[in-house]
Amino acid sequence: MNCLGIESTAHTFGIAIVTTKGKVLSNTKKVFTTKTGGMIPAKVADFHVANCDQVLADALKQAKLKLKDIDLISYSAAPGIGHSLRIGAMFARSLAVNLDKPIVGVNHCIAHLEIGKLMTKAKNPVLLYASGANTQVIAYEGKKYRIFGETLDIGVGNFIDAFARELELGFPGGPKIEKLALKSKNYIELPYVVKGMDVSFGGILTNLKQKIKSGKFKKEDLCYSTQETVFAMLLEVSERAMAHCEKNELLLGGGVACNKRLQQMADKMCKERKAKSFVPENQYLVDNAAMIAWQGILQHKAGEITRIEDAVIRPYERTDDVVINYLE
Ligand code: ATP
Ligand code: FE2
Repeated sequence: MNCLGIESTAHTFGIAIVTTKGKVLSNTKKVFTTKTGGMIPAKVADFHVANCDQVLADALKQAKLKLKDIDLISYSAAPGIGHSLRIGAMFARSLAVNLDKPIVGVNHCIAHLEIGKLMTKAKNPVLLYASGANTQVIAYEGKKYRIFGETLDIGVGNFIDAFARELELGFPGGPKIEKLALKSKNYIELPYVVKGMDVSFGGILTNLKQKIKSGKFKKEDLCYSTQETVFAMLLEVSERAMAHCEKNELLLGGGVACNKRLQQMADKMCKERKAKSFVPENQYLVDNAAMIAWQGILQHKAGEITRIEDAVIRPYERTDDVVINYLE
């Protein structure tokens, strides 16, 4: 059986086709970018409308399939920017109606987790989900993916991008900060903000802005120190969640997890506690449609089908709002 998954929670419009066995036949996307900074929701929606047919054609071509070979449609119903979500949901509904196939709406954050499990064979991990808009430490317990810790303000990726903007490095900032950080080993003291199981980045950003303005610090030292500080914060909370849940696997997800230094630190922390750290390849870390297709398969296998009139969007749904029917 082939599931066609549609991702459109934010800047990415993606379509992928994945089999029931977890084979990714295609994983295509177009990503909205802008030179002038911010993402204007209505502009992103226009971009998705303009590109959806081409992305569909690319996905079918890559998979060497026709629309008649699709057995199930899934789409990201939550969480995300309403304008973007709506385009994906509408595209999914029209495909489902035209092809007369079942449709399943999925949660994007949970999909990040499940594609990581599929690709790395991690069984029951704590997930550090570090993307642009989201930063959560998640673990499965009692039919739900529970959030053990999260950011109290902005996501770590958005924080890194805002810092990069201050340094005039352009968007997305993550890869550029990572490159500059490699040129330094000079740690400059920064606020370290862990509150219980949660983290916060606003104060660190203000501190960094002041340091940049003072002109007293080298860019590469600030990049290095920022990475060391915020990654240590994320891993401290992840480690505590692993200890609490008695789990010995850590799975990284989200675009920030592309960072090699974060991967290295995660590996070290896990080795020290005789645990294992897992990272899927980059195409499955950033926003992608393969994870939406795979999530659709998991939910459909458990008997879930969304009625067409219920195939709506839930921009504010939280990871722990969702009851997981396909796991014990
Ligand atoms: P979500 O809706 O899940 O929050 P998103 O679109 O905001 O998704 P992703 O596509 O998962 O985020 O990731 C994008 C973020 O990852 C950006 O903030 C980018 O700067 C960051 N990023 C990408 N590569 C790296 C890297 N090498 N180091 C650090 N951050 C990175
Ligand atoms: Fe994402």
